[in-house]
Amino acid sequence: MTAMPFSHIAGTGSAVPERILSNHELEKIVDTSDEWIMRRTGIKERRLSSTGKHESTADLGTAAARRAMEIADISERQIDTIITSTVTADRITPSAACLIQHQLEANHAAAFDVSAGCSGFTYGLELADASIRAGKAETVLVIGAERLSTFVNWQDRGTCVLFGDGAGAIVISARDAPGGILSTHIRSDGALWDLLYCEDGNPGPPDILNYIKHIPFHIKMEGNRLFKKAVAFMADIALQSLAQNKLVRDDIAIVIPHQANLRIIQAISEKIDIPMDRFYTNLHRYGNTSSASIPLAMDEAFRQGLIKKGDHVLLVSFGAGLTWGAAVIQWSI
Ligand code: COA
Repeated sequence: MTAMPFSHIAGTGSAVPERILSNHELEKIVDTSDEWIMRRTGIKERRLSSTGKHESTADLGTAAARRAMEIADISERQIDTIITSTVTADRITPSAACLIQHQLEANHAAAFDVSAGCSGFTYGLELADASIRAGKAETVLVIGAERLSTFVNWQDRGTCVLFGDGAGAIVISARDAPGGILSTHIRSDGALWDLLYCEDGNPGPPDILNYIKHIPFHIKMEGNRLFKKAVAFMADIALQSLAQNKLVRDDIAIVIPHQANLRIIQAISEKIDIPMDRFYTNLHRYGNTSSASIPLAMDEAFRQGLIKKGDHVLLVSFGAGLTWGAAVIQWSI
């Protein structure tokens, strides 16, 4: 019998829309201020997708995937599975993953979406890891691609300042050498569904600011209660992950948390006793890109040279559902 393979990260990529929406521009849309948004969230600007620029959810996911495939040095023919985490697929059906498969011409892949709120990427990672370890796939693309701008109520200052669009992707390859994804944990509590949900409807057109008056559906959120759950659940699952891998805080080179709010990240840093300078954050530039936030941040951190081969990386996520999760990765590239 051959030994069970390990799931190694072979490449990372990301893509964001061109259009930047600054806090100052938001001041003209709702009753808010750059000062309030920065102080309460740490967000300075976010990206919004536009019509005619190939910035649909599938377009962004495809662009991120191509960049990850370039680093992994693989062709589309090698991809066995495409898992896309998204709550903002371009259509209810088919999945964003199938549209991405089509664009990549990854004709041999099985493709499907995962819906687990902002935690979707860690859920996708768990599925990819399980299928590689079971010998069912050798090369898996896990993509987080979102256009939250299409679900936001642009008249609700309590939520519209928080979200943005973007995508991140990784290629995971089966290898015999130990390392790669060391653990994944995923959790849910559906009893808390009404802390963050979308009222109704389908994704709207990309040029969302032109359609503000026509949007019949939007995100509803109890920010304050959600904040406390985010801190408690993410800190708890991060500590469980460290314990399971018998790692102490100094073993972790970098933490890539879900990018919802800088104050949430600071509170987690305190609770798990890993200093903020080992947390990667980019939410000042992108806001909360839902399940794209972790792979987008991971790609940036890697490309900036902040993650090196052999490093232990801790991912920790939280989102609507409620859902939360964590993964520990020993970096392979
Ligand atoms: N600009 C200016 N004022 C705003 C505002 C905005 N964009 N949004 C809300 N306010 C006001 C409120 O109306 C309230 O006014 P009041 O005191 O007169 O009633 C005041 O600011 C405080 O609101 P509150 O909601 O208590 O602020 P907060 O400190 O909890 O911060 C969030 C709000 C949304 C930033 C914060 O709760 C949060 O980040 N929660 C978690 C969100 C999250 O993680 N969501 C995604 C999960 S994946």
